[in-house]
Amino acid sequence: MNKNVFIENLRNLISGETDTTAVLANTAAYIKEVYGWFWIGFYIVKEEELVLGPFQGSVACYRIKKGRGVCGTSWQKNATIVVPDVEEFPGHIACSSLSKSEIVVPLHNRQGNVCAVLDIDSDQLATFGPAEQDVLEAAVRVVEEQVF
Ligand code: SME
Repeated sequence: MNKNVFIENLRNLISGETDTTAVLANTAAYIKEVYGWFWIGFYIVKEEELVLGPFQGSVACYRIKKGRGVCGTSWQKNATIVVPDVEEFPGHIACSSLSKSEIVVPLHNRQGNVCAVLDIDSDQLATFGPAEQDVLEAAVRVVEEQVF
């Protein structure tokens, strides 16, 4: 799907709802419907950890510390992290042996601090490139404006 159509559809999907859990849940479901990736979900910053939030996919680990795994590294660096091969990422946290590549995109609150991350896993290598990064970063801008 074209990026602008995807972002406009997402905006329409979540506009009018201000509950964070509800918006994150439908955002994960919508990304799953469009792209079909293996695992799509949010981890939310609570005190000094990331805690599992709404997701689509198989069961996952509950808590990730700052600087740990791909998610904790994205939080610490306040940057999108693209991992073409999870076996090559030191400290990668394997929630499923089926995950082969991954992208993590941080979300920010009004103060500009990371308040959650969008984590997406693929069961194939090198799924995420500049085009996927671009559309997912645009998607989290829409979500963070709405609920954070
Ligand atoms: N692989 C992630 C952990 C979360 S699961 O992929 C759902 C990481 O290394 O942070």
